[in-house]
Amino acid sequence: MSGVYQRREFLRLAGTAGLARTLKGAEKPVRIGLVGVGSRGTGLLRILLDVPGVQIPAISDINEEHLKNAQDIVEKGNRPRPEGYSRGPEDYRRLVAREDLDAVMTATPWELHTPVAVAAMKAGKYAATEVPAALTIEQCWELVNTSEQTGMPCMMLENDCFGRGALMALNLVQQGVLGELIHCEGGYDHDIREGLLRNGDLSWRGMHALRRNANLYPTHPIGPIAWWTGINRGDRFTYLTSMSSKSRGLNRYAEKRFGPDNVNSKRKFANGDVNTSVIMTEKGVTVTLNHDTQLPRPYSDSGDTRIPLMVQRLQGTEGIFFGSMEKIYIDGRSPLHKWEDTGPYYEQYEHLLWKELGEAAKSSSHGGEDYVELYEFVRAVRNKIQTPVDVYDAATWSVITPLSEQSAASRSAPVDFPDFTRGKWKTVRPIDLGL
Ligand SMILES: NC(=O)c1ccc[n+]([C@@H]2O[C@H](COP(=O)([O-])OP(=O)(O)OC[C@H]3O[C@@H](n4cnc5c(N)ncnc54)[C@H](O)[C@@H]3O)[C@@H](O)[C@H]2O)c1
Repeated sequence: MSGVYQRREFLRLAGTAGLARTLKGAEKPVRIGLVGVGSRGTGLLRILLDVPGVQIPAISDINEEHLKNAQDIVEKGNRPRPEGYSRGPEDYRRLVAREDLDAVMTATPWELHTPVAVAAMKAGKYAATEVPAALTIEQCWELVNTSEQTGMPCMMLENDCFGRGALMALNLVQQGVLGELIHCEGGYDHDIREGLLRNGDLSWRGMHALRRNANLYPTHPIGPIAWWTGINRGDRFTYLTSMSSKSRGLNRYAEKRFGPDNVNSKRKFANGDVNTSVIMTEKGVTVTLNHDTQLPRPYSDSGDTRIPLMVQRLQGTEGIFFGSMEKIYIDGRSPLHKWEDTGPYYEQYEHLLWKELGEAAKSSSHGGEDYVELYEFVRAVRNKIQTPVDVYDAATWSVITPLSEQSAASRSAPVDFPDFTRGKWKTVRPIDLGL
């Protein structure tokens, strides 16, 4: 049996529920190297230090201030100061080559996600990358091919899959409460104008809005939807069509905040203010997906920043779950034509992961989902099993950006999804949550 075959077999087996898992050995150290400790990377670092058994021997960032800040955080947590790598944009390669790492986690600007994850897998490490995992169809294939050839898993850190509501909805689906699934609605509807035009200058993320007209950030809403609908686990996305509105939001924002002479008041941004894509699955479920980041929009009064910015709606023959508003309606159970609060449903359908981790998670960012996500990644690394978001998920969710770009550029012509699983999507298999 060839090494590659054995590794492929590992990936296949790791995708089955039958693989033995153990919570024993929870103290066994898991050594993670971090690449990119700006805003998000620092947040991930703080949570990782709370996950039992995690060690951070090395950190890379080209910004020395960010690097020092991250090293200080680790040291203040009474851990050894991580070795720093800041000798230029490729210095992460020296970090990846270290022999004392089990995993490499990336929270850099998007362009580096695939290169760092590929380098990590080739060096025999688990890869974890912030969202999106890839920017082009070619990069998506590169991730899949590298993971299959090396036998190393690659997890995209799609935290919204691990939210309390998203996982409760997974239970509702799996227990048939919503009946046969028909339609889902998702959206990343988040006013990030300030982050796109930092102090009047385009940030790295703003550069994407300048150059690309697409759904630039699809994975937050599509991740939970893909889990609910069993994408790559019995169903698959077949094609999408996409359409973008005109682009005015960033011009107006720049004009109001920085004056009419600011270059961003006048330049033409490629990205339409609202991009809407419609996706069809092999089994006839439809999904509408929005990307809406350049227009005014408030957070919720409750201060839960996830609620207004994430549309999550899931509809089946027996009812509808409106995750972002925490409302639900089930035929024959809810009062006729009246939304119910989801509260009592959590009592009945709370996901086991949240029963297990909810207390530890509740004070962490994004309503606790970040802790649950990182805990699950660490558990997979420790037990040498497949990660819950696998490389096929990462590729299928990330590829929506280039596909929507193609479709929007050609009068919403339908564009086919590549089948990154090469036919394995037909096999129904559970998500590898460490239960
Ligand atoms: N999952 C979530 O909820 C969530 C939230 C925010 C951001 N993100 C993602 O996290 C990533 C980072 O976003 P951010 O807001 O922290 O950006 P940021 O600009 O604050 O941080 C990026 C960091 O990467 C560093 N960097 C750049 N090039 C590098 C290189 N070659 N080697 C090492 N370090 C390098 C920068 O110096 C910076 O410190 C993005 O992919 C973003 O989409 C995810």
